[in-house]
Amino acid sequence: MAVSVLLGLQWGDEGKGKIVDFLAPQFQVVARFQGGPNAGHTLEFDGQKHVLHQIPSGIFRPHIKNIVGNGLVIDPIVFRREVENLRQHAPEISQNLFISKKAHLILPTHRVLDAAYEKVKGEKKIGSTLRGIGPTYQNKIGRQGLRIGDLLTPNFDEKYQYLKAHHHQLLHQLGYEYDTQAEEATFLEAIAFLKTLQLCDTEYLINDAIAQGESILAEGAQGAMLDIDFGSYPYVTSSNTIVAGALTGLGIAPQHIGEVLGIFKAYCTRVGSGPFPTELQEATGEKLRQIGREFGATTGRPRRCGWLDLPALKYAVMLNGVTQLLMMKADVLNDFEEIQVCTHYEQEDGSRTDRLPYCLQDVPVRPVYQRFEGWQQDLGA
Ligand code: IMO
Ligand code: MG
Repeated sequence: MAVSVLLGLQWGDEGKGKIVDFLAPQFQVVARFQGGPNAGHTLEFDGQKHVLHQIPSGIFRPHIKNIVGNGLVIDPIVFRREVENLRQHAPEISQNLFISKKAHLILPTHRVLDAAYEKVKGEKKIGSTLRGIGPTYQNKIGRQGLRIGDLLTPNFDEKYQYLKAHHHQLLHQLGYEYDTQAEEATFLEAIAFLKTLQLCDTEYLINDAIAQGESILAEGAQGAMLDIDFGSYPYVTSSNTIVAGALTGLGIAPQHIGEVLGIFKAYCTRVGSGPFPTELQEATGEKLRQIGREFGATTGRPRRCGWLDLPALKYAVMLNGVTQLLMMKADVLNDFEEIQVCTHYEQEDGSRTDRLPYCLQDVPVRPVYQRFEGWQQDLGA
């Protein structure tokens, strides 16, 4: 049985959690492959809303194995809180939860560094979720990071002290004031808690599941336009959010990928900085935000809103080899008299293109819209 991959095709917040939750009964394994606590996947269980940040969205179904893949960066403090919250609803939850030993650890100082780097950038800040994502991936690629598996080695403390000292040095150079002492105690407790969970070589777990014909869903976080290679760099997240990330983030070979489910909203949103050609800064944007309840699930920030951007969407479909498109939140547009869709961009020289230019923030484009009369009725009726 092939692995299905579900991903966001825009700037995140497309409704991935809701769809995974809906599709989950068909799968025996749900696996996250990148990102970390920057994600906020909202789903409902027993009539209550839950926001999952690092735990796969199959966790509420007792028959599903949930894998936290090697491609993730994990904050132990957030992880512990998530597991403890979930245990109130389903005490057995951690039996179905498997964490890769090769996933990287977010330290308290990674979070401070995230804030410090943003401060240094000033007006050019990324608008990061300040969860320490960037600095942790930076250490991973720089071959300095700490991994979940290191928790089980006798010299973990030495490795931790070494990296922490390095971070203190960097923060000192940046002249950034901070105090992580109180948080460090919570961090060390959270680490002890993490060690009670199932830490394993999840690449074997997932390939054994493939060999046994189990059905697997790889759950993406963020969206294609935030991809480190193909998103609007540098206003992106620090991982590969596209389908390729599922291969490296779980340790599976390309021939195992079957369906690629691409999720998008009938309009666009973006949190944080960076180019957003179809952004609506007036009343229509505010109307989308209010009706669509477009406020961040992780940070509570108001999301920037705008019309559907087809050149960006087609780019995401191409990069991911999407086999099924799922459109979310069309009902938010129910009482709009007119709906617009961007079909092309007009460039500075007046030419039109439906391809994504290299750098939208330095060379802005003007969206070309097609206008449609709204349906002005309740789609749910
Ligand atoms: P889900 O999985 C929306 C955005 C941040 C910022 C940029 C970099 O819920 O769709 P980071 O903290 O990753 O260094 O921030 O990426 N961002 C998201 N936006 N949904 C998300 O996740 C996001 N995760 C990161 O707002 O602009
Ligand atoms: Mg989100």
